[in-house]
This record gives sequence, C-alpha cells and structure tokens, in this order.
Amino acid sequence: MTDATTAVPGPVMKLRELAHSAACAASVRAAALLGLPEALGEEPATATELAQAVGADEEALVRLLRSLTTYGVFAETGEGTYVHTAESRLLREDDPRSIKYNVLWATEPWTWELWAHLDEAVRTGKGVFPSLHGEEFFAYLHARAPHSAEVFDKAMTQSSQLSARAIAEQLDLSGVRSVADIAGGQGLVLATLLEKNPELHGTLLDLPGVVAHPDPRLGAGGSLASRATLLPGDCLEEIPVQADVYLFKNILEWDDRSTVTALRNAVAAARPGARVLVIENLVDGSPELRFTTAMDLLLLLNVGGKKHTREGLAALMEQAGLRVGDIRPVNSYLHLFESTVA
Ligand SMILES: C[S@@+](CC[C@H](N)C(=O)[O-])C[C@H]1O[C@@H](n2cnc3c(N)ncnc32)[C@H](O)[C@@H]1O
Repeated sequence: MTDATTAVPGPVMKLRELAHSAACAASVRAAALLGLPEALGEEPATATELAQAVGADEEALVRLLRSLTTYGVFAETGEGTYVHTAESRLLREDDPRSIKYNVLWATEPWTWELWAHLDEAVRTGKGVFPSLHGEEFFAYLHARAPHSAEVFDKAMTQSSQLSARAIAEQLDLSGVRSVADIAGGQGLVLATLLEKNPELHGTLLDLPGVVAHPDPRLGAGGSLASRATLLPGDCLEEIPVQADVYLFKNILEWDDRSTVTALRNAVAAARPGARVLVIENLVDGSPELRFTTAMDLLLLLNVGGKKHTREGLAALMEQAGLRVGDIRPVNSYLHLFESTVA
C-alpha cells in the first residue's frame, strides 16, 4: 500500500500543488504569528492544549496543523498529539538557528500584493513597487511600514547569524586595520569580524533607521563600541569612509546601474589596493536554487533588482573599477568575490 503522505504526485497533482503553494507559505506564516512553535514544548501536546495556549479555535487549528504537517512542519504522533520537527523548531523565536523573521519577512502582506504583478514585471523587466505605492521600496518601508521594516532588519540579522561565523572563518584579515560593512544591516557580521580580529576597527554604514538599532555589541556601551563607528547614510549617494576592506553582503541586488554606483562610491573613497569583498547568493552557483530564484523574482518586483550569475556580478565589479580575484563559496548558498581597487 502507498503511504499517502510520501507518494510522489503525478504531473496533474504536482501542478495543482504548485498553484496552491500560497497555502503553504500562509500556513507557515500563521503558525509563526500565532506563536505555535513557542507554545509547543519538548513534550507532545494535544490540539486542545495548543488551541488554549495560542488562543485559537481548536477545529481550525487542527486544520492548520494538518496543512503544516504535510510539509514536515510539526508532526502528528498518531495519538492525537503534536511534536516539533527540525523545521518547526526553526520557527521558534528562541532557537539559536531561528529563521522566524525570515519567514515573516518572506510572507509580509506587501509580498502577496507584489506577486500578483509578476507577469507585468516580466513583461517590462522593471519593478512594480513604485507604481503601486508611489515611492521606492526602502523609502516606503521606513516611512509607511515601520513594523515591516523591523521584521526586515531582524530577518537580515537572523540570516547573517547563519553565515557570519563561516564568513569570519573564511576571511583572512591579517594586517587589516579597518573594515567598512556597507549596507551592513544591524551589524551582526561586522560584530562577528571585530570579535574574531581584536585589532580591527569597523564602520557600519546603513540607512539611518537601521543603524539607529545596531547589534548591542556595537551600540553605546557595547563590548565592541570602542572599535565601531555607526554611519547612517545612503551608499548610492556616497560612501564617506576610508577602510582597508569594504564588505558588500547581500546588497548588490538592485538594478545593475545602482550596483555599479554603490561599488564606484567605495572605489572613490578607497585607497588604491584596498579590498572590496562582495558576498552574494548566485543563481548559477547555489544548490538552494529554489530559494535563490524565489528571491531573484521578489527582488525584481520590489526593487527592480536581481540575484546575479557569477559572470554577471564579476562584470559589474570590473565595470566599477575593481580587479576581481578569487571567487569561492562561503557556505552552501553564499559566494565570496575578492577584488581590489585598481
Ligand atoms: C538584504 S539587507 C542585507 C544586510 C546585511 N548586509 C546582511 O547581509 O545581513 C540590505 C541592507 O541594505 C540596506 N540599504 C538599502 N538601501 C541602502 C542604501 N541606499 N544605502 C545604505 N544601505 C541601504 C538595508 O537597510 C538593509 O540593511
């Protein structure tokens, strides 16, 4: 007999499932918003217990759990109780590898609105955010959707938590006195680099609303504050900092002209021979292709941007006046491009 949960669907059902995949994203989002992952502890719990804990209608909660368990998010024991799986644990706010805010970010209300316009974006090759909202994505986020901006900043920090150590291990910063993390979010990667390299001074440049809430180690009174400068700014206007190393991680994802502008601004500020390091997911180099291609399309919709190919990104770096050197994986989904100012 075929196990209904593991049977491979035929093409008709596979396509139906693909078309309904919004239900999957919405189920994961609902679980996070209800606090279901936190309500379930180490012991199995019944739907009645969980419904009480999260303040939900029990029958509807069972339906949500039925949807989630088909994707391996939570599991049913067969005795009417539910337990965590590796995936549902990652939705817990207190899990050290939590990606709860990445999940919330990927399913924010504005994302659903944008996906409906994908055919239009593909026809024009342009983002749709400004025509829908009358302003650019990041301006909108900070001025009109502060809660979503907060979710975004936390999501970036959680993402970087997964890669910061690998980046710090990979980067040889011997002899380097200063590093500037351009559009470095709340500064988790910078803080990790400063902790690993006790002689290093770091500058965190990001939009004013982001550097106002830095990693606590970098902010006033923090353990790394004496070696950190917080620099609110717009890297498309100017990068007013001279450093031995400039880091651009997951930011060169807008239109190509802006990518070259941001890099040129670093080149303009840097001494000849300074290093510019770019860290990105590549559409042709990542085993997590579905995640990268999904992000690629979301970037098209919100900022008219993209995830790059290895060659495409290297060409833009050269165009900005950089000499591209080694390109190597940092972990299973990020690549590091080494370059120097010509
Ligand atoms: C995808 S996040 C990456 C953050 C961080 N580098 C990381 O990997 O965790 C992009 C960052 O770019 C910042 N940003 C967007 N436009 C910017 C601009 N024009 N100037 C400076 N920072 C900008 C955002 O605030 C956000 O923190």
